[in-house]
Amino acid sequence: MTELASEAMESEFGTVAGWTEQAVRALGPEHAVPAGCRGSGSEAALRWLADGMGVRPGARVLDAGAGVGGPAGWLAAERGVRPVCAEPMAEAVHASRALFGLPSLVAVSQALPLADAVFDAAWSLGVLCTTEDKAAVLGELHRVLVPGGRLGLLVFVAEGDLTPPLPDGNSFPTSGELDALLADAGFRVIGSARADLSDSPAEWQQRADAVDAEVRRRHGHEPAWAQAQEQSGRVGRLLDSGELVPRLLVAVAG
Ligand SMILES: C[S@@+](CC[C@H](N)C(=O)[O-])C[C@H]1O[C@@H](n2cnc3c(N)ncnc32)[C@H](O)[C@@H]1O
Repeated sequence: MTELASEAMESEFGTVAGWTEQAVRALGPEHAVPAGCRGSGSEAALRWLADGMGVRPGARVLDAGAGVGGPAGWLAAERGVRPVCAEPMAEAVHASRALFGLPSLVAVSQALPLADAVFDAAWSLGVLCTTEDKAAVLGELHRVLVPGGRLGLLVFVAEGDLTPPLPDGNSFPTSGELDALLADAGFRVIGSARADLSDSPAEWQQRADAVDAEVRRRHGHEPAWAQAQEQSGRVGRLLDSGELVPRLLVAVAG
């Protein structure tokens, strides 16, 4: 298995991903997309990005750091595409195959085992903040996109100093750092917005909550569950205080 930046992240994005797949299987397929959007959370954010990226039926799309595949599953259902999911955690890759039937591979985004210029669009949601190697990730995304291909990003941006305790293994860029990284990788930003991660339909939130409750019922006594809760709680506190801002971006590969 490919290792992430911290053991806490491996619990959150690996172990809990496998548990999420099991809980969705128990509760029903209508729970898959809401429960599968770990980090991207909001349907409005996904729609804003898909519109900005101009995703048309049949387009070749990559989801880099796809998690259990919720956003890619949403895109497949809404826009008539079949995204390729690349994700380092094997349990999450299993979930995106099993829950959404999407082609999925185990890979970190700074070393994608994919040919040059094979995607019309790519998105990466809540992923850049999980690695120090942001330039390499953006370089790889640029490499696999066709010239003029579009990139969609959700990035948690630091508005200044962050109050501890911080989530283990995360590295949040400032807005200025993000803009410079994109320009250095050969991207031109054409759209930017602050995401409201709470504006999904009520039914979406209820289904995500039901899956969380089922995971807790089955695994709430296990250390990995507590570790994952602590991680996501720390991110949540930074978002609530406004020290972290969820930023959506669409950029064109030059
Ligand atoms: C906050 S989750 C977001 C998952 C998914 N994109 C979503 O929006 O639901 C971050 C994901 O990034 C993955 N990840 C961590 N480091 C990565 C890297 N270097 N390359 C690609 N993905 C990475 C994690 O395993 C995890 O699935």
